[in-house]
Amino acid sequence: MRWSIALLSLLSAGLGLPGSGNAADLARGGALAERWCGNCHIVDRTASAGRADGLPTLPAIAAKRETTAASLKGILSAPHGRMPDLSLGAADQDDLIAYILSLRPN
Ligand code: HEC
Repeated sequence: MRWSIALLSLLSAGLGLPGSGNAADLARGGALAERWCGNCHIVDRTASAGRADGLPTLPAIAAKRETTAASLKGILSAPHGRMPDLSLGAADQDDLIAYILSLRPN
């Protein structure tokens, strides 16, 4: 029954490994942040200074006490500044928020 083993391994490869979801979400969130926030906010975790125009970096936003998943959701749903209306889907928002909160210093 060689073919059925091959079929099974194909199927399980397609489903992905359990537990790989979190890392993938953060990587996706980081890419989304670079793409949608990086024009105005410095996204890099290692950036110690903000920009000359005074906009906070994403790590600085993450470090603020009042920043929560809910407050970030509000920001993402209501465009601010000259931020374009991103119309990110819920899954994209969650990945992006998870990424921003992962920048929070411990
Ligand atoms: C086109 C430029 C632009 C883009 C793109 C942008 N922002 Fe902003 N952001 C601003 C400006 C300008 C402010 C200053 C407050 C305001 O004008 O409302 C700000 C403020 C913020 C604040 C509040 C910071 C504070 O300390 O009060 C958060 C949080 C924030 N942005 C998150 C994001 C996230 C997350 C993204 C990406 C999805 C993003 N921004 C993309 C321009 C931008």
